[in-house]
Amino acid sequence: MPQPPSLPSLAQLFADDPQRVTHLSWQLAGMTFDWSKLHLTPAWLGMLWGMADQARYGDAVAQLFAGEIVNPTEGRAAEHLAERGFGSADSVALAAARRQRMFGLIDAIEAGAFGDVTGVLHIGIGGSALGPALLMDALGRRERRYKVRVVANIDGQALDEAVAELDPATTLIAIASKTFTTSETLRNADSAISWLQENGVDDPYGRLVALTAAPQKAVDFGIDETRVLPFAESVGGRYSLWSAIGFPVALALGTEAFDQLLEGAALVDEHVRTSPPSSNIPLIAAAADRFYADHGAETRGIFAYDERLRLLVPYLQQLVMESNGKTARLDGQPLAGPSSAILWGGTGTDAQHAVFQLLHQGTHLVPVEFIAVAQADDDQDAAHHRALLLNAFAQGAALMAGKESDDLHRRYSGNRPSATILLDKLDPRTLGALIAFYEHRTFAEAVLTGINPFDQFGVELGKSMANAIDDPDSRAGFDASTRALIEKAGL
Ligand code: F6P
Repeated sequence: MPQPPSLPSLAQLFADDPQRVTHLSWQLAGMTFDWSKLHLTPAWLGMLWGMADQARYGDAVAQLFAGEIVNPTEGRAAEHLAERGFGSADSVALAAARRQRMFGLIDAIEAGAFGDVTGVLHIGIGGSALGPALLMDALGRRERRYKVRVVANIDGQALDEAVAELDPATTLIAIASKTFTTSETLRNADSAISWLQENGVDDPYGRLVALTAAPQKAVDFGIDETRVLPFAESVGGRYSLWSAIGFPVALALGTEAFDQLLEGAALVDEHVRTSPPSSNIPLIAAAADRFYADHGAETRGIFAYDERLRLLVPYLQQLVMESNGKTARLDGQPLAGPSSAILWGGTGTDAQHAVFQLLHQGTHLVPVEFIAVAQADDDQDAAHHRALLLNAFAQGAALMAGKESDDLHRRYSGNRPSATILLDKLDPRTLGALIAFYEHRTFAEAVLTGINPFDQFGVELGKSMANAIDDPDSRAGFDASTRALIEKAGL
């Protein structure tokens, strides 16, 4: 692996500091962070505080927590923290009141106001789908009273698959869209309403719930105001699972579990709010991310050694890449260095038998992150979970140690970086804390890079071109390749 000369030997760093694991491991909200197998030196850590200072990280955190405008390109605050009790008093009170309204609707459903309800079809895309999908897959695996199916893609296959497992007579449809204008979501919503109609539901509109920051649009769509659950415009889509977007989660897992999710996130918020840079875990993680990006790492691999977290990587991909995949600095100038690394990954142990070859012997520098859960929650012999955890830890050890051989084919260079997050258990509180850790890390990386993590103009061009391409008059303006493809597909 080509290594910039400045990457030190991990073995040497461990030899130099017998307390390295203690110095580079932290505990927070049921999570252990072990950053010792990254190439962080005492000298570099010393510089970190200077970097944070220069980037005015402390001021940025204070602005975020005060609910000030931290998204200047859209002239908005970023108020997902208000859902967890931090921010301006008005925003915190409004978020709490709206949550109580959501819980009130859940109580009404529980009390039978909508007859027998056994399932929810949650329709949304991007930040309006990835969070609920992750939370339900991670925490809702045991038999529940409500079956939740999340549909995002406009591909009819996705809706086919989702409705196949639901009973139209006892299903509520949650239409989740911050803007209530997203074409995939509105198309899927129309088709889901038709599905209810075709299956004999008399009042399909009476089965709809809207989760949105544009309540009037939901009312105009035909949804009764009592079933419109609003959230603040200042809560970004990819930061919205804490808000009304979490409705199916609160229904299926219970409002108490939803509160615990928020409490877990608030523990990390409080940590960030009160910690000096030297012990601020998301900041240290973000600075390490910048360290590797500056050393040429174009990607970052995250591998969850837990089936329940198999949707974590797609969730984090939106969080990190939609937030920090940008060229423009806050001052409108282009970035001098690389933007945030491409995030990819999968689940262990499967990934070991697929992509880990490249991690162990490829030429790329890829910082890897392992996420594991100490406590098992499956019905199989304990040997399964034991092997799962041992595999996760062995991979990190192998990446670092490597193995010498005269035969290049059988040589493992080692000195490859990995970090590990070990959760005590996977419950709403810990998962809320884990997600909040990644949010704060993403924010810290944005501050260190000098960008705005809260806008997403990059997706706009593709959206507008997808609309234009459907207009025969606009098609002539498209390139020859695209026109040929349209013709070949018979569109
Ligand atoms: O396509 C990008 C995006 O704007 C995301 O930021 C957002 O989470 C998603 O679309 C869905 O948007 P909405 O919730 O408004 O339907």
